[in-house]
Amino acid sequence: MSAASGSLEPEAVRTMFDSIAPLYDRMNLLMTAGLDRRWRDATARRVVRPGDYVLDAACGTGDLALADLRAGASRVVGVDFSKRMLELAERKSSAVEWIQGDLCRLPFPDGAFQAVTIGFGLRNVSDRAGALRELGRVLAPGGRLGILEITRARGPLAPFFRIWFETLVPAAGRLLSGGSAYSYLPASVRRFSTPAQLAGEIAQAGFGEVRYRLLAGGSMALHVGVAA
Ligand SMILES: C[S@@+](CC[C@H](N)C(=O)[O-])C[C@H]1O[C@@H](n2cnc3c(N)ncnc32)[C@H](O)[C@@H]1O
Repeated sequence: MSAASGSLEPEAVRTMFDSIAPLYDRMNLLMTAGLDRRWRDATARRVVRPGDYVLDAACGTGDLALADLRAGASRVVGVDFSKRMLELAERKSSAVEWIQGDLCRLPFPDGAFQAVTIGFGLRNVSDRAGALRELGRVLAPGGRLGILEITRARGPLAPFFRIWFETLVPAAGRLLSGGSAYSYLPASVRRFSTPAQLAGEIAQAGFGEVRYRLLAGGSMALHVGVAA
């Protein structure tokens, strides 16, 4: 397992995010020209109903948890195992409860939440099937899961995204952080399931009504499923 292969042990993932935390929001802005807020809002609006108690798993610096609040959640909990990412989330809002923890072993009872969101997080989890089952466990029956993730673009814009993600983003990351985290990013996207495969994995984990749509010229995928 290595950053260049796009696959890392959980402890290495945590250390990597701790080290890039100060850079994370700026790199997001640079990589997406600020469109990431729109995709997070689309994810939250798709699964959060007014008054819901919502978990944002792998919350990082907190932007999807804040989108869950904007979508009408009455209470949001953000969970992440990187202390440094959470420290930045804490500075953004005290309206969310920020908890340090592993999304594969969540400290919540069965059926605690009406909706769960996870943005750009699932790709970093090696036991994806276990993670999906755990997210399903903490959802109440009928509760909704929303997964926002980068995907390998296909179609006419694919060459543009390839140059962008595979060359320019790692170069900018190296320049700004001096590390390999932004080489891990395109490698992890290459390794990740296609949207159709991921839909199958979500269904396999016990979710019904699994659907997905592509965003951002086919470079992002928004999957949803309903807990049984
Ligand atoms: C790319 S960031 C995404 C952050 C945020 N969701 C967003 O939309 O910007 C991925 C986050 O997943 C977290 N993460 C990865 N594996 C995790 C795990 N098993 N448990 C908890 N957090 C995890 C990392 O610490 C990191 O903060």
